Amino acid sequence: MLSIEPFVSKRKVGDFDCGYPTLNNYIQTLALKSTRKGYGRTYLATDETGRVVGYYALATGTVQVGDVPDAESLMPTDVPVVRLGRLAVRADCQRRGYGTQLLIHACKQTLNVADLVGVAFLEVHTLYEEARNFYVKYGFIPFLDDRMHMFLSIEAIRRLVVD
Ligand SMILES: CC(C)(COP(=O)(O)OP(=O)(O)OC[C@H]1O[C@@H](n2cnc3c(N)ncnc32)[C@H](O)[C@@H]1OP(=O)(O)O)[C@@H](O)C(=O)NCCC(=O)NCCS
Repeated sequence: MLSIEPFVSKRKVGDFDCGYPTLNNYIQTLALKSTRKGYGRTYLATDETGRVVGYYALATGTVQVGDVPDAESLMPTDVPVVRLGRLAVRADCQRRGYGTQLLIHACKQTLNVADLVGVAFLEVHTLYEEARNFYVKYGFIPFLDDRMHMFLSIEAIRRLVVD
């Protein structure tokens, strides 16, 4: 059973390795600084032994309405989104459902934000093709500017979270 909580103070993340140096470096050196500055919020997943096995980061953002497939006429030029900045699971813990649990948690946080302010989508820039397949499995579809730039609508998130 995973525990998923905000990354707010020093935790043992120095040995976190998901196989991608950029994502390892983010959690080891940038995540807490970014939180302090208000640029994003990182959540850590800890297993029953207390080991950090995964994380994700959320921030707010906008996307251009011209990049939204089937955009509605009411949509503003800058469409408000919650941005899933990074999501990673330790290499030796992948394919155990942890990434799914982190994604569902991020979706619930997005709904909480959407209840307070306008949010149309959960947005992600997928970094790698294998990660893209992970998001496709949960219903993410591409924006028009780049097939690696993807989103899930608030309605789709509500369906995913209740299933
Ligand atoms: C992408 C990632 C977060 C997925 O986490 P995970 O814990 O391995 O994923 P889950 O076990 O929840 O997988 C759920 C489903 O997603 C799909 N999936 C997960 N990893 C996949 C991969 N590498 N290739 C294809 N499909 C994949 C599968 O359908 C999988 O179900 P299955 O194992 O029953 O076949 C993880 O592999 C990771 O950290 N990768 C390296 C970093 C990265 O690419 N992060 C994303 C940056 S945008």
